[in-house]
Amino acid sequence: MDRIIMLLVLLPPTSASNGPGHSLWLLSTYIQGETQFPEFSYTTTLDDITVGYYKSGTYFPRGNTTNEDDVVNSDYIKGISDYMYNSFLRRAALLRQDSQNDSLDVYQTLVVCELLDFNNTGKMLTKDAARGCTTDEICYFNNKFTYKVILNISQDVLKPHLEEFKLKYIQFYLPVCISTLKNYLKKRQNEVHKKADPKITFFQKENSGGFRVSCLATGFYPRHINLTLFRDGQPVSDHEITGGDLLPNGDGTYQMRKSLEISADTHRYSCSATHLSLDKTLIIDLGNELFQKWKVSDKILMF
Ligand SMILES: *[C@@H]1O[C@H](CO)[C@@H](O)[C@H](O)[C@H]1NC(C)=O
Repeated sequence: MDRIIMLLVLLPPTSASNGPGHSLWLLSTYIQGETQFPEFSYTTTLDDITVGYYKSGTYFPRGNTTNEDDVVNSDYIKGISDYMYNSFLRRAALLRQDSQNDSLDVYQTLVVCELLDFNNTGKMLTKDAARGCTTDEICYFNNKFTYKVILNISQDVLKPHLEEFKLKYIQFYLPVCISTLKNYLKKRQNEVHKKADPKITFFQKENSGGFRVSCLATGFYPRHINLTLFRDGQPVSDHEITGGDLLPNGDGTYQMRKSLEISADTHRYSCSATHLSLDKTLIIDLGNELFQKWKVSDKILMF
């Protein structure tokens, strides 16, 4: 069986690495048909730091590139690249039987492995997608496999492939992924452990029929943050709040905004943030935003 994909494209990883753990992500893409994009490419990501990019036969390390030869030696890159490329060719051949001849097809594979801490392996996941839909998914955690196969393949055909694949997974893919992850963690310590504190603004805007108050935290890293709005000292319930999505700033930091529609009322509003970079919870009262001015960088976006 050949494993397939989905479009997680270039979103920062969400599940892993909120806690103390770390993960290595490899997202590869194969395009069949004429486009201006490379036929075959992949991106390697350590937590949410892009560490390398491969296209048209060349691997381009990103960021800190000194001393990484033993992590990404050329045999290793070639081995992985050839393997993935051939696997795409097989999948494409398999799926092409029911496709239009001159159509443009995109295949992707996502491979993720996790370390819960330096000695404990978390889950390893492989997802394949074709034309934007997941076709199969394999997860290995605590010595157990779980898998989903969406392709229309009979059990007789699937079973032997799956057994062989499981064996390779345990003996080869998982150990290789984990040792690569550990190597990157050593080489990229400074990036992985970097901290940037959130700059917070809490502001109010008039809109039709009332006001919208918004609390914006930006410029922080790592990405995990707790941003809470309070009304008279009580947390405002989630269903009243809009926003809350984590967005990348493009410089490796993140932002998050939470908003609330209010009418002209006499309640007191405040916003609190907790983040790894702060020794204590930061609390800002609406209207007292000036006191926090020293926290406000000129990078803040006002929408
Ligand atoms: C967010 O809140 C949860 C629950 O109280 C806590 O476990 C977690 O450590 C907090 N995260 C941060 C970054 O402060």
